[in-house]
Amino acid sequence: MAVLGTIETEIGKIEIREAKVKDASSTVEFMNWVTGEVDYHTYGANDFNIRPEDEARMIEMFHSRDNCLFLIATFSGQIVAVATLTGGVKERVKHRGTIGITVAKRFWRLGIGQQMMRIIINYAEKSPVLTKLELLVHEENIPAIKLYNKLGFFREGTIQRYFRFEETYYDGINMGLIVD
Ligand SMILES: CC(C)(COP(=O)(O)OP(=O)(O)OC[C@H]1O[C@@H](n2cnc3c(N)ncnc32)[C@H](O)[C@@H]1OP(=O)(O)O)[C@@H](O)C(=O)NCCC(=O)NCCS
Repeated sequence: MAVLGTIETEIGKIEIREAKVKDASSTVEFMNWVTGEVDYHTYGANDFNIRPEDEARMIEMFHSRDNCLFLIATFSGQIVAVATLTGGVKERVKHRGTIGITVAKRFWRLGIGQQMMRIIINYAEKSPVLTKLELLVHEENIPAIKLYNKLGFFREGTIQRYFRFEETYYDGINMGLIVD
């Protein structure tokens, strides 16, 4: 897979590319530990209950569809971030793509999140299918909200009590971007 973006840092080079089927196991492994680093995901550490073979099928499915993208960022061959764009399946919702992104804490504030988001936006802008990008963010996830605002995403709505963590409820904020 071609390298879609690079970031030079003091500790070395980070590369962004589409995930390959052979990345399936390391992607599952990454998701299982990275989601334990913050409380803003819908699942916690080791909650990413996907078998590597199913993840491999998922990556294949992403390759086969014209409104999906599965990106990984690597440092020294190890996955340090994952970002997905999942387009709608049915004709009437194919134009909408939902984004998910997570960067390992050690690699925050190096520009990885922004570059992965820009690759997704660029892909959507060129796509004859996609015209709208969407995501849902935890109300207290200020870094993510600032990132999305910086890229032009606007607030579309609030899902009350979307998250429940240790007996406390948090709202989910819907954000969107028109890309046609
Ligand atoms: C949100 C997240 C993806 C940002 O990734 P990142 O690689 O650290 O972000 P970048 O370095 O590319 O920063 C881009 C912009 O995001 C905003 N931002 C990122 N981290 C921030 C922070 N801690 N405080 C305030 N703004 C922040 C800034 O606007 C920043 O632009 P700037 O550097 O010009 O100020 C990352 O913090 C993350 O993975 N968090 C945990 C998982 C998560 O919350 N995912 C999103 C779920 S909706």
